[in-house]
Amino acid sequence: MAATDLLFRPFDLGPLHMPNRIVMAPMTRSFSPGGVPTAQVAAYYRRRAEGGVGLIVSEGTGINRPASLNDPNVPRFWGTEELAAWKHVIDEVHAAGGLMAPQLWHVGSARNTQTDWKAPGPVDSPSGLSSPGKQFAEPMTDAAVADTIAAFGQAAADAKRLGFDAVELHGAHGYLIDQFFWAGTNQRTDRWGGSTLPERTRFAVEILKAVRAAVGPGYPVIIRLSQWKQQDFKARLAETPAEMAAWLEPMAAAGADIFHCSQRRFWEPEFDGSDLNFAGWAGKLTGRPTITVGSVGLSGEFVAAFRGEGSEPASLDGLIERLARDEFDLVAVGRALLQDPDWVEKIRAGRNDELMNFGREALATLY
Ligand SMILES: Cc1cc2nc3c(=O)[nH]c(=O)nc-3n(C[C@H](O)[C@H](O)[C@H](O)COP(=O)(O)O)c2cc1C
Repeated sequence: MAATDLLFRPFDLGPLHMPNRIVMAPMTRSFSPGGVPTAQVAAYYRRRAEGGVGLIVSEGTGINRPASLNDPNVPRFWGTEELAAWKHVIDEVHAAGGLMAPQLWHVGSARNTQTDWKAPGPVDSPSGLSSPGKQFAEPMTDAAVADTIAAFGQAAADAKRLGFDAVELHGAHGYLIDQFFWAGTNQRTDRWGGSTLPERTRFAVEILKAVRAAVGPGYPVIIRLSQWKQQDFKARLAETPAEMAAWLEPMAAAGADIFHCSQRRFWEPEFDGSDLNFAGWAGKLTGRPTITVGSVGLSGEFVAAFRGEGSEPASLDGLIERLARDEFDLVAVGRALLQDPDWVEKIRAGRNDELMNFGREALATLY
């Protein structure tokens, strides 16, 4: 038995029956003009399904708020034309035997340096801060908070109705949900803020409750989280396992089935005194299944890739050792799958000499 066979054990969660442990990480591609995924976008996801990915998580896709997105070429997850296009995507993925979850996204006050496009409505954010100390807008009103929670719920209902196999909420990387978690961007003194992390987690908890109410019991709900922020790679929400438990447990109770724990390098320990990574701790503290991610199978990390740094294939031995210890259940792979739709099959068959370097050019195409 090859060590990589551990990646090819099935994983079951309620109605979700994954043939292997490999998840395609959500990756914004900006190839959906006017917010509508094209036939090429559907074909791109279908190729990953044909390539044997266990579960595809879509690029972040905007919920129904005027400023949920900051790029006109990122797909929306609301509107007749948009949802019909997503139906085509999921039908194509299913036709190839794949499984897929949309990643439901609200960017909050995160700016996009690639475009001058302005969203058709006021920016939503907890305290009008784009990063700590940088005031640029008004805080969200109670009505805006309520409407945003409802919009996440509606998007989850639509995902289930269209036939998607799960939903993922983007609660990571300094976007709206994470802006509520982070004291640096949430200075509210009402019920959506407070000096403790559990108080700042109420927004996510209410979104999870709305999503759970919309999809019913048993439908898989994933939430993606990170300690790091695009505004500050060194930022941390939970400094100790106890703080992490107080952050994650209310979300598990509110309906999160799987924690998708985003790190830039999966092997980095979360707390001193243990080599468990973020997913390892999240699983240990909540008992829920987890997804790890970050530089799987590649030599360099993804933020450097945006600056143009290439990466070479890297050994999976360290990952497999952790999988063998049940540190996490699932493994998300980003750039390696963006570069090469056949990455999973090459790993399964041990075709290591055919693994590809990741280059910046891959960001500019939708193959
Ligand atoms: C082009 C690109 C777009 C990304 N867009 C998203 C996104 O929409 N949502 C998200 O949660 N993460 C996004 N990420 C982060 C990836 O999901 C993943 O966590 C990161 O690339 C690390 O995995 P990797 O080292 O295997 O690439 C993106 C990464 C890349 C390279």
